[in-house]
Amino acid sequence: MRSMTDAKDLYEHPYPSPELAAEHPFVPYAPAPVATADAAARGSEFHELMDARRSVRMFSDEPVPKALIEQAILTASTAPSGAHKQPWRFVMTDSAAVKSAIREAAEEEERVNYLDNRMNEEWQEALAPLGTDHHKEFLEVAPWIVVLFEERYEQRADGERRKNYYVKESCGIAAGLFIAALHTMGLATLTHTPSPMAFLSKVLGRPENERPFVLFPIGYPLAGTRVPDISRKPLADVAVHVTDLP
Ligand SMILES: Cc1cc2nc3c(=O)[nH]c(=O)nc-3n(C[C@H](O)[C@H](O)[C@H](O)COP(=O)(O)O)c2cc1C
Repeated sequence: MRSMTDAKDLYEHPYPSPELAAEHPFVPYAPAPVATADAAARGSEFHELMDARRSVRMFSDEPVPKALIEQAILTASTAPSGAHKQPWRFVMTDSAAVKSAIREAAEEEERVNYLDNRMNEEWQEALAPLGTDHHKEFLEVAPWIVVLFEERYEQRADGERRKNYYVKESCGIAAGLFIAALHTMGLATLTHTPSPMAFLSKVLGRPENERPFVLFPIGYPLAGTRVPDISRKPLADVAVHVTDLP
């Protein structure tokens, strides 16, 4: 039992209010409890799993069942979203022709980014340790490409437009869950942004209300592949505990 104090002693304004509950449906929420003694171990195990994830740029051509991709999309789609609009579309392809067209267009944009200095000097300096360049062969080798499109607004069948809220934030969270789900299944991906990415709308035949957000090549890492030897910031550099007013 987690609750130590009665709800009525904690909250003057309960959620949902009786008026709200009369107007909209609500259901009980009671996730399986995790004993405090087990929580640290579970948290640490999950951290260890996620800490072992790396972005991969050399994929094997070993096939990946579509069901695994769909499973990851389902998990991504559990993300919270502004006003519960779920403003995302995960567009997947395993077509050699489509992947090839994506590679060609991505390399064209990346050639301008890397070779014609569309990325400024500071940006190129930051990328230097990763050694990325305009070659994107992995876009054809990886068995799947999934492009996450942000739904800028909802286009209803009757022609009406409805606003979406916090679209980028919502898609960012969904992307994180997608990457985590793939990693949990032993799959690898790269968070890839060959910008500008408008070509993806064209190649994948997406409507006007969707804009490409991130491209994910997905597959198994090529045997013997290597990744940059980078480290992650320690807790002290990413966490701040505020104990009083400034
Ligand atoms: C929003 C975003 C865009 C990225 N775009 C690219 C990209 O276009 N090409 C690339 O090779 N890596 C890209 N990355 C991958 C990062 O370089 C990578 O996540 C970072 O170096 C940390 O490595 P790790 O993912 O292995 O922890 C991107 C990552 C993020 C979050």
